[in-house]
Amino acid sequence: MRYSIPLCGLFAAVTFASDVHQLTKDTFKPFVEENDLVLAEFFAPWCGHCKALAPEYETAATTLKEKDIALVKVDCTEEQDLCQEYGVEGYPTLKVFRGTDNISPYGGQRKADAIVSYMTKQSLPAVSLITASTVEEFKTADKVVLVAYFAADDKASNETFTAVANGLRDSYLFGATNDAALAASEGVEMPGLVLYKSFDEGKDIFSEPFTKENIESFAKVSSIPLIGEVGPETYSGYMAAGIPLAYIFAETPEERETLAKELKPLAQKHKGVVNFATIDAKAFGQHAGNLNLEIGKFPAFAIQRTDKNQKYPYDQTKAITEKDIGTFVEDFVAGKIEPSIKSEPIPEKQEGPVTVVVAKNYDELVLNNDKDVLLEFYAPWCGHCKALAPKYEELAALYASEELSKLVTVAKVDATANDVPDEIQGFPTIKLFPAGKKDSPVDYSGSRTVEDLIQFIKENGSHKAEAAVAAPAAAEEESDLPHQAEAATEKVAEVAEEATKSAKSAASEATEAVKTAVNAGTDDDIHDEL
Ligand SMILES: *[C@@H]1O[C@H](CO)[C@@H](O)[C@H](O)[C@H]1NC(C)=O
Ligand SMILES: *[C@@H]1O[C@H](CO)[C@@H](O)[C@H](O)[C@H]1NC(C)=O
Repeated sequence: MRYSIPLCGLFAAVTFASDVHQLTKDTFKPFVEENDLVLAEFFAPWCGHCKALAPEYETAATTLKEKDIALVKVDCTEEQDLCQEYGVEGYPTLKVFRGTDNISPYGGQRKADAIVSYMTKQSLPAVSLITASTVEEFKTADKVVLVAYFAADDKASNETFTAVANGLRDSYLFGATNDAALAASEGVEMPGLVLYKSFDEGKDIFSEPFTKENIESFAKVSSIPLIGEVGPETYSGYMAAGIPLAYIFAETPEERETLAKELKPLAQKHKGVVNFATIDAKAFGQHAGNLNLEIGKFPAFAIQRTDKNQKYPYDQTKAITEKDIGTFVEDFVAGKIEPSIKSEPIPEKQEGPVTVVVAKNYDELVLNNDKDVLLEFYAPWCGHCKALAPKYEELAALYASEELSKLVTVAKVDATANDVPDEIQGFPTIKLFPAGKKDSPVDYSGSRTVEDLIQFIKENGSHKAEAAVAAPAAAEEESDLPHQAEAATEKVAEVAEEATKSAKSAASEATEAVKTAVNAGTDDDIHDEL
């Protein structure tokens, strides 16, 4: 054993000619100062996500070396001070360095091509100047590229476009030119704009007045493939698009391709109104349940209104044809179809102190009454929810008196088994619906202690009702609970960063689930992450 470690190290050094520079506290700063643009990974050798990233990171480093963009890594188990200095709280943490003072978090996916694309954009000015000799190369420099054509003295268009580019530079490549002949050959009038893409029809010409809002929404709509694929990498984009999403579930790539072809005319017809995407029903079949489809019965089709989280599953006994789905989508767009509501049965009797809310009694118990309603959205598998449960019971019991129960309801809803109108980013989520102000619920973000929750109900409820807490025992627990709350919140932030702003995301499990989804495609928990 004694000799195996150095041997092992030697072996590794000989076999890998890595393009990733491993740095230490002595070498890190000089390196970052010498290189204009550096992506740094702060990792721990035992961390599973780091191991999954490693080959992707290597590949990206090799590609980016040619562009003078350096990829480095720091082992935080050995360089604790360095990692602390840069505020590393989880592994891996990726940061973009432009010198030692200008540091920003890496905002892309942890895949080689995503890293290359993100860092390439970072290396360019927000808007690249394009000429007749560079335009062809620039058009294909990324999946989505926007080129503006305006006159040299058109300062207003230049400023507008530059502002858009500054805001969206992490997402797309931006170029601009004053060459009128080039504009003419592209079929645009100045000021004009063309979005070039490596899919679908290859390009879209912008035809609205040249304003920031118009250009931004054009970029959003045109950059989404006519029929794309829903997966961990793309899900948040679809959710953020603000447009209903039509899912085509199928188990094999061949079947997805066939169905995509069949429904493409519909995607074209409803472009900008409904997004269409296929989804791998083998890997993400659980997600069908979130759309109120029967899991396992594929192929299947459903539309989701992403803004209200309403679901419109298509009858799974019927075939998916352009004609029938066409009618379904038409009816959906015309507002003729009612959303499907998933609900547990209304409990015959409320057993414990915590009121059980389901979709079918949600309006009655949460909204249409004069009480301050504290509602916990939980998932049966969520560890933080289980930890909270006894305290939540304790809390509810304090409001059970005849007097207080007229003013305050402490309630919970299993948000995996019931459709709720609220956007839930992690479990548990706790919201207070104050009497008279039910349309503006207050999110609870404090520590999950009985005392703090009582205070919250008192301060933010309309009735200012205060329960008396049974003092001693709670104080002890308080010391580690704030930690727990903190940890949970952090995870939710991480989840968001992982591009899984999910209605069903597990606060604690989701990060793991993303990786599982990406790497193994196993189906447990994947709906959590989607
Ligand atoms: C836009 O304005 C900037 C700053 O004045 C200038 O450097 C750039 O060349 C202009 N771009 C085009 C395409 O005219
Ligand atoms: C009441 O709600 C506000 C707004 O969310 C929050 O800042 C405040 O901390 C809440 N009060 C308590 C005691 O939690």
